[in-house]
Amino acid sequence: MDNEAGESYLKSKRRAADALGIVLRHESPMGLSEADAIAFIAKLDASPDVDAILVQLPLPQGYDGSKVLAAISPAKDVDGLCAANAGALLAPSVAHKFAPCTAEACIEILKSVDCELRGANICVVGASRVVGLPLALLLIQEGATPTICHIHTKDLENHTRRADIVVVAVGRAGLIRPEMVEPGTIVVDVGINRVTDDQGRTKLVGDAAINNIPGVRITPVPGGVGPVTTALLMKHVVVAAESSAA
Ligand code: GUN
Repeated sequence: MDNEAGESYLKSKRRAADALGIVLRHESPMGLSEADAIAFIAKLDASPDVDAILVQLPLPQGYDGSKVLAAISPAKDVDGLCAANAGALLAPSVAHKFAPCTAEACIEILKSVDCELRGANICVVGASRVVGLPLALLLIQEGATPTICHIHTKDLENHTRRADIVVVAVGRAGLIRPEMVEPGTIVVDVGINRVTDDQGRTKLVGDAAINNIPGVRITPVPGGVGPVTTALLMKHVVVAAESSAA
């Protein structure tokens, strides 16, 4: 995922938090060393006034994401990215506190259109810790058969064409083209990219350039996965606040 996704996500989180009366505090690590950022997060984590913490990815170049995310305790890690929450996805009998919101949003969207996940062949394009990897684990829990494709995958089209559902979360406009999906495919487009059109106007687009193809259903960008992700994040924040008050 690139910065465009992060910025768009931040705007939408702020709008939702304001509407719900949740106090959202945004801190930018610009200029902070990795060690200082970790110390800062650890201090927030220890504060009884802070119910939830989300570290927006990508982190600045040179930061070790795993180390930074480890500064959040599982009960406040509302994006489910610290090792304990992410690892709990491998052990479904262990109740995880929170799953990563974007991955969970993909599942919610598919269920909302009565998509049969059990037995479905699902091509997940992108193996990020935020979307692709946790989504594959969540899909397996739903009885689906995910294939994870990534930058080294040979012949991506061979995988996307065989899938009932394609989830694309790479951050590259135009990665999925019309000839790469068969009629009947559902495409969940997680990508958010800013592109400039012929008139010099900028707009946000997803990773799939396959709008208006008969027989192919696709989530819009903007207005598809993003708002569902934000809604789930707000739900996680409420759960975190309620459990800290209990
Ligand atoms: N940056 C872009 N998307 C996401 C997301 O879903 N979670 C986090 N933590 N950072 C992001």
